[in-house]
Amino acid sequence: MKRYQICCIGAGYVGGPSMSIIAYQCPHIDVKVVDISQERIDSWNSPSGDLPIYEPGLREVVLSVRNRNLFFSMEVDEAIEDADMIFVAVNTPTKMRGLGAGRAADLTRWELAARRIAAVATTPKIVVEKSTVPIRTAEAIASVLTASGKTHFSIVSNPEFLAEGTAIQDLRNPDRVLIGTNTEDPRSVEAMNVLVDIYSHWVPRERILTTNVWSSELSKLVANSCLAQRVSTINAVSEICEATGADIDEVANAVGLDNRIGVKFLKASVGFGGSCFQKDILSLVYLCESMGLQEAAEYFYWIVKLNDHQKERFVSRIIHGLFHTVTGKRITVLGFAFKKDTGDTRESPAIEVCRRLLYEKAILSIYDPKVHSSQILTDLCHSTGMDLLELNKYATVYADPYEACYQSHALVVCTEWDLFKELDFERIYCEMEKPAFAFDGRNVLPHETMKSLGFVIYGIGKPLDKRLNWV
Ligand code: NAD
Ligand code: UDX
Repeated sequence: MKRYQICCIGAGYVGGPSMSIIAYQCPHIDVKVVDISQERIDSWNSPSGDLPIYEPGLREVVLSVRNRNLFFSMEVDEAIEDADMIFVAVNTPTKMRGLGAGRAADLTRWELAARRIAAVATTPKIVVEKSTVPIRTAEAIASVLTASGKTHFSIVSNPEFLAEGTAIQDLRNPDRVLIGTNTEDPRSVEAMNVLVDIYSHWVPRERILTTNVWSSELSKLVANSCLAQRVSTINAVSEICEATGADIDEVANAVGLDNRIGVKFLKASVGFGGSCFQKDILSLVYLCESMGLQEAAEYFYWIVKLNDHQKERFVSRIIHGLFHTVTGKRITVLGFAFKKDTGDTRESPAIEVCRRLLYEKAILSIYDPKVHSSQILTDLCHSTGMDLLELNKYATVYADPYEACYQSHALVVCTEWDLFKELDFERIYCEMEKPAFAFDGRNVLPHETMKSLGFVIYGIGKPLDKRLNWV
């Protein structure tokens, strides 16, 4: 009997891990993940298991099913033709030019994938919208697919809620799986049930929600906006704390213990990053604006504005704290990823912090345990407009945190890596210029211990160190 065939277009942070889990949980299904990037596919197939993304637990899952019922390939057409179900997990970044630039999601890759499916498919397919897309994209995609008239397509929306750093955990034990479709069309409902059956192999049925397609598409944008809104709220409160002497962690705890509010996602920071939050909020803002819902648009836009302000004011604290100038000073940036347990730097607050410090002519020593140095340098060339030759004069990436801290004027924490809590701060202090400063953008360092060693510390939303009072 022919085995059920799944194809996923897009072997990125979503396509790779989510398909690995389907293959792992459903040994009776063959899953082929395809991409146009040779480098990515080669890396997914790397014999040593050096995968293109770092995600705790991912390597073990991939190695246990790769070439059993999980395959990575560049053969997009062949995978489409063979598949019964096709997930589309291509990137949908914010449009950089043209109509809706800076707001709308760029659906070019999605449409190209859909056109490829339409061109190649000769047998009926279930097409699953896995990428995050604006509301009503499924409808537009349906027009592209059905225009060829060659076969039947059922469109199902199945947004992904995994967070990087915990992707495997999130995929194996999701809070919910959301599946939306045109509930008035029996074939679409049938397709939705096929997908429900797949997830039922490991997700309790009551956590698999089925909705109409628009609710599903909109829920994804709203979920990310709500999460980001909490971070911007607590970050706005962190500024109030610094002005009043309240402590942000105490406030967050006191507020979060109210069951209706909850303790999660109330960690003040240098600002949120990642490829999703800003993009999805801006997409929602665009949606509101295009429907004339100006107040709603402004409300959501402020989440992003507050986030920009938080990054900006963190850098201002550093510059003012270091006697109003960082020119020629060696500053150690600890962490470059947008959060811990990932090597992803997309929209990482570290990029903006470094850009501003480089603009002030600081000399940066950067350390991150998982981000490749080439990625850091590429991000900084891109954000500063410098070429690599020039950037190398001002920024060095180190593989060892102690080397990065050597002879530094200040430590600047941009990512909350656990290992930063355990560093030998006595050694670091001895080897730094004095006064030795630390600007903790994640409140992960052991502030009291460091203060007793002699560090002058600034923590987001923490009572200001007297020696920083003039800031
Ligand atoms: P990504 O950039 O890591 O991966 C996308 C992949 O698609 C790339 O490897 C790219 O080469 C490939 N691709 C693009 N066009 C293609 C085409 N026409 N044919 C074949 N391959 C093509 O992106 P991602 O982070 O995996 O995000 C994918 C989607 O999932 C986005 O819409 C994103 O908003 C959404 N999402 C992401 C996350 C996350 O944590 N990264 C979480 C939930 C949802
Ligand atoms: C997010 C959503 O959580 C996930 O459901 C969605 O599928 C994709 O977007 P991700 O961006 O991977 O996931 O990570 P997340 O844990 O949400 O963190 C996003 C950013 O917010 C990070 O920069 C993180 O450091 C920051 N953050 C998060 C805070 O600053 N404080 C918090 O309390 C939580």
